[in-house]
Amino acid sequence: MNQPSKIQEPSGKLGVLTPGMGAVSTTFISGVEAIKAGIGEPIGSLTQMGHIRLGKRTDNTSPLIRDFVPLAGLEDLVFGGWDVFEDDVYAAASHAGVLAQKDLDVLKDRLTAIKPMKAIFDRNYVRRLEGSHVKQASSKWDLAQMAREDIQRFKSDNGLDRVVVIWCGSTEIFLEPTAVHASVEAFETGLKDSDEGIAPSMIYAYAALTEGVPFFNGAPNLTVDLPVMLELARENAVPIMGKDFKTGQTLMKTILAPGFKARMLGVRGWFSTNILGNRDGEILDDPDSFKTKEESKLGVLEHILQPPLYPSLYGDIYHKVRINYYPPRGDEKEGWDNIDIFGWLGYPMQVKVDFLCRDSILAAPLVLDLVLFADLAQRSGLHGIQEWLSFYFKSPQTAEGLYPEHDLFIQLMKLKNTLRFLKGEDLITHLGQEYYD
Ligand SMILES: NC(=O)c1ccc[n+]([C@@H]2O[C@H](COP(=O)([O-])OP(=O)(O)OC[C@H]3O[C@@H](n4cnc5c(N)ncnc54)[C@H](O)[C@@H]3O)[C@@H](O)[C@H]2O)c1
Repeated sequence: MNQPSKIQEPSGKLGVLTPGMGAVSTTFISGVEAIKAGIGEPIGSLTQMGHIRLGKRTDNTSPLIRDFVPLAGLEDLVFGGWDVFEDDVYAAASHAGVLAQKDLDVLKDRLTAIKPMKAIFDRNYVRRLEGSHVKQASSKWDLAQMAREDIQRFKSDNGLDRVVVIWCGSTEIFLEPTAVHASVEAFETGLKDSDEGIAPSMIYAYAALTEGVPFFNGAPNLTVDLPVMLELARENAVPIMGKDFKTGQTLMKTILAPGFKARMLGVRGWFSTNILGNRDGEILDDPDSFKTKEESKLGVLEHILQPPLYPSLYGDIYHKVRINYYPPRGDEKEGWDNIDIFGWLGYPMQVKVDFLCRDSILAAPLVLDLVLFADLAQRSGLHGIQEWLSFYFKSPQTAEGLYPEHDLFIQLMKLKNTLRFLKGEDLITHLGQEYYD
């Protein structure tokens, strides 16, 4: 990476559009409104609560990240989005049942004012969902033009300076890249022919990138992991990143697995199962949507533990992930992990994790950070894949041929060093020889 030119200041308003205004999106929006109203704290958000060390440990210089790099302020965010349901954010958040009704009621006026635009939706890509707030057009090309107009209108109606789009929609069925995704030219022909390889999420991504707007993907769909999207990001100088917010069980996995590996403890098996009862859980009950999620969750251990390098420790690992739809739990998921590890002379041990988490409470601060960092990347002249934001994703996007870095602590170091780099500060290697010279 070349030293970037000066970062443009975040002047004016930043629009945030989420395709999908369900549990995650409305918990994020309501949360930001609550924080702005002074009735909640942005817990879980690195951009709001995290500090970054500069220079030597003896310098005692650790500003807040938001004071160190020029991020948009929460008061400058303007929210919008698309959904297949007409519900405004107040109604959708009440339905999602993540935040208590009394907390939402305080914000009712602000939240009812945010209404979704009609969605680009096709049941062939999300089978367990049916909604009527959907755009009608004769081709996918026309839908893409409508999404572009939505972005332009949102920008002009709200007097926005910049916009970012972050996919918070349902998990689409498992798709693989085909010839239609190989180039912008092939993709545009495919849009005109309404090619079945083009899922709704890709139409939004195409529209955003063509409008010069960053697009990040919070679900495990293929969406931006495609040559066409890389080409568009390059041509229009916009950042992209995916995929699948790293929350819940995978977050735990990427905290624990680096620890086992650091101590050279072997892992024989890792069985993960979840119960979850929100709409996301219902959609993941469809085997084709689950396959998309499963692929995203399974890669994590392989890359952290590196079995080819450590065959006797990790060469024979049995890794299984299950998600069970169980309505009584709503968003309050429970995730169990049974981990069979072994130590000195191969003696077996077990670790059991029972994580009673709240999916959208974990995801909302990630959406906020990604919105602010996507905008920072854009203003810093960084475009294409933003690997430094791997920290937030279960299945981080990388350049072709490069394996993703899943270890949460390496990801955090990379993120912070990127911020230091953007500001022309010395990178921190943790070598620390200078303290003993
Ligand atoms: N909550 C987490 O911790 C977490 C973590 C990682 C990934 N995710 C992913 O984030 C996404 C959102 O999760 P959620 O819990 O908010 O789910 P949700 O079901 O509550 O919300 C998804 C919303 O997207 C809408 N939608 C679906 N297809 C659409 C389309 N084509 N255009 C516009 N809207 C569309 C649905 O109507 C729904 O309102 C899911 O794909 C989920 O797998 C969530």
